[in-house]
Amino acid sequence: MFQKSQILVTATMIRVWPVVLMVLFNGVSSTEVVLDNSTIPASVNIGLLYSFNTSVGRIVKVAVEAAVEDVNSDPSILGKTKLKVSLQEDSKYRGFLSIAEALQLMATQTVAIIGPQTSTTAHVISHIANELQVPLLSFSATDPTLSSLQFPFFIRTAFSDKFQMTAIADLVNYFGWREVIAVYGDDDHGRNGMGTLGDKLAERRCKISFKAPMTPEATSEEITDVLVQVALAESRVIVLHTSTAWGPKVLRVAKSLGMMENGYVWIATNFLTTRLDIDSPLSQDATDDIQGVITLRMYIPDSKIKRWFVSKWKNLTVGKTVNGSLGLSTYGIFAYDTVYVLAHALDTFFKQGNQISFSHDPKLFALRGDNMHLDAVKIFNEGKLLRKSIYEVNMTGVSGHFKYTSDGNLVNPAYEVINVIGTGTRRIGYWSNYSGLSVIPPEELYSKPPNRSSANQKLLTVLWPGGTVQRPRGWVFPNNGRMLKIGVPGRVSYREFVSHVQGTDMYKGFCIDVFLSAVNLLSYAVPYKFISYGDGQSNPSNTELVRLITAGVFDAAVGDITITTERTKMADFTQPYIESGLVVVASVKKTDSNAWAFLTPFTPMMWTVTAIFFLLVGAVVWILEHRLNDDFRGPPKKQMVTILWFSFSTMFFAHRENTVSTLGRFVLLIWLFVVLIINSSYTASLTSILTVQQLSSPIKGIESLTNSKEPIGYLQGSFTRTYLIEEIGIDESRLVPMKTPQETTKALEKGPQKGGIAAYVDERAYIELFLSSRCDFSIVGQEFTRNGWGFAFPRDSPLAVDLSTAILELAENGDLQRIHDKWLLRSACLSQGAKLEVDRLNLKSFWGLYLVCGLACVLALLIYLFQTMRQYYKHGPEELEPPSGQGSSSSRLRTFLSFVDEKEDIVKSRSKRRHIERIPYRITSEVGSSITSNKGYSQSSSNRIDPPNEV
Ligand SMILES: *[C@@H]1O[C@H](CO)[C@@H](O)[C@H](O)[C@H]1NC(C)=O
Ligand SMILES: *[C@@H]1O[C@H](CO)[C@@H](O)[C@H](O)[C@H]1NC(C)=O
Ligand SMILES: *[C@@H]1O[C@H](CO)[C@@H](O)[C@H](O)[C@H]1NC(C)=O
Repeated sequence: MFQKSQILVTATMIRVWPVVLMVLFNGVSSTEVVLDNSTIPASVNIGLLYSFNTSVGRIVKVAVEAAVEDVNSDPSILGKTKLKVSLQEDSKYRGFLSIAEALQLMATQTVAIIGPQTSTTAHVISHIANELQVPLLSFSATDPTLSSLQFPFFIRTAFSDKFQMTAIADLVNYFGWREVIAVYGDDDHGRNGMGTLGDKLAERRCKISFKAPMTPEATSEEITDVLVQVALAESRVIVLHTSTAWGPKVLRVAKSLGMMENGYVWIATNFLTTRLDIDSPLSQDATDDIQGVITLRMYIPDSKIKRWFVSKWKNLTVGKTVNGSLGLSTYGIFAYDTVYVLAHALDTFFKQGNQISFSHDPKLFALRGDNMHLDAVKIFNEGKLLRKSIYEVNMTGVSGHFKYTSDGNLVNPAYEVINVIGTGTRRIGYWSNYSGLSVIPPEELYSKPPNRSSANQKLLTVLWPGGTVQRPRGWVFPNNGRMLKIGVPGRVSYREFVSHVQGTDMYKGFCIDVFLSAVNLLSYAVPYKFISYGDGQSNPSNTELVRLITAGVFDAAVGDITITTERTKMADFTQPYIESGLVVVASVKKTDSNAWAFLTPFTPMMWTVTAIFFLLVGAVVWILEHRLNDDFRGPPKKQMVTILWFSFSTMFFAHRENTVSTLGRFVLLIWLFVVLIINSSYTASLTSILTVQQLSSPIKGIESLTNSKEPIGYLQGSFTRTYLIEEIGIDESRLVPMKTPQETTKALEKGPQKGGIAAYVDERAYIELFLSSRCDFSIVGQEFTRNGWGFAFPRDSPLAVDLSTAILELAENGDLQRIHDKWLLRSACLSQGAKLEVDRLNLKSFWGLYLVCGLACVLALLIYLFQTMRQYYKHGPEELEPPSGQGSSSSRLRTFLSFVDEKEDIVKSRSKRRHIERIPYRITSEVGSSITSNKGYSQSSSNRIDPPNEV
């Protein structure tokens, strides 16, 4: 076979050699060597670099030769030009040999090379392809990093592993696992593939928890060593990414180590399907080791041409099976298509008028004197043009629509998800780059808008290793068989939450019951043992307990552990199973209603101001009314009584005196409104005082506590201390640690004056227990933090997630409440409905009303004064002529005042047509003197004022 291809190649060479020799003899170093000036060449050399003695290599050789034959016999492609393929055996995993082999192939002036088989070789010879500008078309080197800009002449004619790894990440995410173990051959293919898997998992918030690399082609012993490490890890989801030849061996060793049992998940990359396809029909032996494994196969849609190719394949392989069968794998199909892609590209290349030419690389040519003869390899001058034509190919091949996207990947990459069952395989769904996992063939999805929503991701039922259909949990407790060491705070006080049962290694209490109920809800057994933490003298610090998880002393912590910021930085917490914010407790006095309770609604100030206003309004109404209204007349003593009686009877809206003047009614109206409000406020306040039990405490909540200077108690070892200092800003010197509830009780009873504490700050859950037997204290103010208690686990612990779900379930079905009531319901002394003393109503709430009322009085008085003045100047001088010569101001004022008194009487008596025996009313000497002295008159003038009339 090798000989034959050499002969084919020489056909071209014979025509080339004379020209080459001529050029060399002329001493021209790098002149263009033109193959054929006039027309399209009769043949084009392509190389095939593969390991033909591997099963994949055998398939590829058959497929490529069949394709070349089909292309050459099809006049519609490449016309009369024939493809000539030179085969070159590739030594896998031997980089240096591969380089030599590639150079040998390129010395035959190939325009493109199909191959190599492995990604490792591809990395090496891509450098040569770059240098000589010969496109390298590979369908089996699937390492995603080969698509990098570093290798512009590497062209992949199958799907990149980037998509396969995305598919695996989607699978892991679909089944709800968070961590996987990567087992791979430590070469470019394995390492870069797993690197991509790590990236894709990270995008889905999953990760590779353990990487287990192996020597490529590792022996059974080496594989065993690695797999034993894998078995010790926490995760049970294993992704296997190796080569076709060697991967099944890993699975065989795994089977022998018992790692194909219930609980394990194996996801194998497409090496396994390739193996199964080549070996088909499968024997019982072939599938025995891999029951329940999930694997992927590059998806090739069903089509007429594919069916044609499958039947053609049977004819091709008849008699060619050396050892074993040659089933058709996807590599065979992609190999066949690759030749067609190249033919189409060359067709376009020639149709565009391009020619094939080679020239010396000046640097390599400079080495010609050496024994290496590297000058024999030449640069393909039009390599870039050919590469461009390849990327522009748009054809329908056996593998479906063949076209490149702008980033150099084939369009619509998709995989079949295969589950190995019995002696065969079962397709459980598809993965496509377009819409993820589905049970519908991808080509049917391309017509719909892409939908990657999780509701749309579907697969059929999987039969897992161990023959179960139940989805494996995906992880186990590490260090098989060892019990989880669960730290439990050794509480001294409030042992209802957690306490050790004397003489046993058992624990009881609210927190323990919640934990046990939650663990019971898990679908798997959790082996654990409780270990007490603390010195037994005082309550241990829960922060320290959580810190010991990070130190590896405990595997978890269960107890009354408040979820605080500091602690969540160290460990993962479950959902809180009880809410517990901080509250302030202070001693309270019960104020029983006493004989003087009726006075309590108003503050003394309020009482005083109210009383003053009653008198004031009475006086104002009297001033406004008494000239017109008989009710307000009479002897001064009677008038005084009337004023008092009138004003206080308004309190009950029971005043009998009529108001006749507009101003008087105005003032009274406003006043009655004020009285209405004061009345109802008083009633409401008094009702609440008399009917609700009152507690009184000088501390009203955390605010009044912050502002005071008195000592505050807290539970020793609790996070309260840090919280009060850092968040609330309470001075450290004010904080007093309390060891036991008894100590707290004593300190609270003593009070701050006698060296005790003014208040005690702790979590509500403890306080409820504390108060259940202590009636002299009460929670004052609001809960000022919102915390909860949870169980602590190491970071990323899957058990924390499952327990959270279990706790929510407990909360929803009411069990959590029942456990709470069992341990913590002691409301004997929690005086329900009792509340802290209501504040007395003070002036602040009413001054607006009083202001309005006061203003109304002043306004009314001013208007009254103004009206009277006007009347005086209109009528006064005529009717009451003062004695002549006595025109001084004082006498005028006197006259005016008497006018005020008399004029109205006259008017009134006239209007009422009723005789009133009237005794002239004079201003008192005191009033008179004060007025005159105010006005600056001499004291002597007061002598001239008439003495007050006797009544
Ligand atoms: C590629 O070929 C398909 C038919 O096979 C055609 O519908 C499509 O337009 C072609 N694309 C380009 C860019 O020529
Ligand atoms: C694969 O899907 C991503 C986004 O869903 C898209 O950006 C990318 O172009 C697709 N690649 C191919 C080759 O279709
Ligand atoms: C995606 O599929 C789900 C379930 O099939 C459907 O509920 C949802 O509406 C779809 N979303 C879009 C954008 O089509």
